[in-house]
Amino acid sequence: MPRTATQFDLVIAANRLPVDRVVDADGTESWRTSPGGLVTAMESVMRGREGAWVGWAGEAGDAPEPFVEDDMYLRPVALSEDEVAHYYEGFSNDTLWPIYHDVIVSATFHRFWFASYEAVNRRFAEAICDVAAKGATVWVHDYQLQLVPAMVREMRPDVRIGWFNHIPFPPVELFAQLPWRRAILEGLLGADYLGFQRVADAQNFIRACRQLLNLPTKGDTVSESRSEGARRVRASAVPISIDFVGLEELAKKPETKARAAEIRESLGDPETLILGVDRLDYTKGIGHRIKAYGELLEEGRVSPPKQMFVQVATPSRERVDAYRDLRNEIEGEVGRLNGEFSDIGAPAVQYLHHSYPRQEMAALYLAADVLLVTPLRDGMNLVAKEYVTCRYDDGGALVLSEFTGAFHELHQAFVCNPHDIEGLKQTIMRAIETPDKEKRRLMRAMRRRVADHDVQRWAARFLDNLANAPEKGGS
Ligand code: ADP
Ligand code: G6P
Repeated sequence: MPRTATQFDLVIAANRLPVDRVVDADGTESWRTSPGGLVTAMESVMRGREGAWVGWAGEAGDAPEPFVEDDMYLRPVALSEDEVAHYYEGFSNDTLWPIYHDVIVSATFHRFWFASYEAVNRRFAEAICDVAAKGATVWVHDYQLQLVPAMVREMRPDVRIGWFNHIPFPPVELFAQLPWRRAILEGLLGADYLGFQRVADAQNFIRACRQLLNLPTKGDTVSESRSEGARRVRASAVPISIDFVGLEELAKKPETKARAAEIRESLGDPETLILGVDRLDYTKGIGHRIKAYGELLEEGRVSPPKQMFVQVATPSRERVDAYRDLRNEIEGEVGRLNGEFSDIGAPAVQYLHHSYPRQEMAALYLAADVLLVTPLRDGMNLVAKEYVTCRYDDGGALVLSEFTGAFHELHQAFVCNPHDIEGLKQTIMRAIETPDKEKRRLMRAMRRRVADHDVQRWAARFLDNLANAPEKGGS
């Protein structure tokens, strides 16, 4: 419970608030849900907890006044135009994001980007300290805020600090390229507990501390320094999930079912509706998927209107060059396939570059016979878990890349290596052609997994690990 109107026992900090401020041309202000899996997950965790959420409101300039929404106290942090360009688009998304995702595109290094990252991390740390009650739990999120744990510790030794990485943590060979690798590791070591999506991510972090900082490590803990009785920091895997009950409920609503039927009908009631849902990001393997599908079209193994393919590509980070290039590339390829293989009223690829309300997403999942999740690297991929959750009818088939966090949990998926185009084509065909009875068995098993490991359980595990993290010099 809040101690005073602006002091909280639970404070979370993420680059983005759960809502973005949108100002229309006529000056009218409104708020809309922010993009990405972090917000999807944390929004349901925070609902009803009466905590504070520190984050950016999504546009450059002065921060709006703090406000309360869904029992959460939202504390906006301001970013200037330059900071959006240097801290957010630059260091976070053009330096760290590629390094942390296997350098699928090359990373850019600029010292002034890091200076901005440091300044913004300090502003976040100050805002956190401002709203944290004495002895509060502070939960920092993701790669944009890796210096925050040590900054908060320095200002507020009374609080307990956790950090969760929603994306992969890279192998030391890649991480070592970062000129600021020491500052980042030291920033993270300010936490009491560090959570990662996969065991391999936690191990990569521990190895980086050992090899690059020469720190003693034992099992899943790292000593903060080489001195006797040094504070120990635990790093382990706690894979994130989604609000199973809430989303299933939404999928079961008669309006959602009706909308799913309408979607199928408007696509000419295809035999197989194939769906992709991704932020338009080069990590998601959208190009690989379209290449495989294009070859299946060329070979006549799929063809509209019998098979219809809908690709939702959510706008993302549109001022970063690699994202702009990707959009051109994907839209060019979709155009080529549509020119070659569409019929009137039956496009080869139905491409949608929009955001949708959650209910529309649920209807799309419910309507789709096959979902293609083909990232080259992805921390978790909540879309895969959302699809499984919405299929209360046990219908549908999930094609899942082995380079996602979800692969380590959803063992009954049709697994693919997206780099292997021939293999991907075969997997897509298997997902289409496997008898329904067998697909229902697979879907049931995956649904059980997500139902048992939902986002509330994930949050409880994280907070439990944080509460039980080793005390100074303890074990
Ligand atoms: P990432 O966090 O990298 O974007 P995830 O798959 O983990 O990837 O999470 C994506 C989240 O964004 C999911 O909750 C998904 O439902 C949501 N989402 C993706 N595309 C859209 C869209 N076009 N409209 C609304 N929500 C979307
Ligand atoms: C991923 C990241 C989040 C980020 C989201 C959307 O889920 O882990 O930290 O918020 O993508 O990206 P954006 O840059 O629009 O915030």
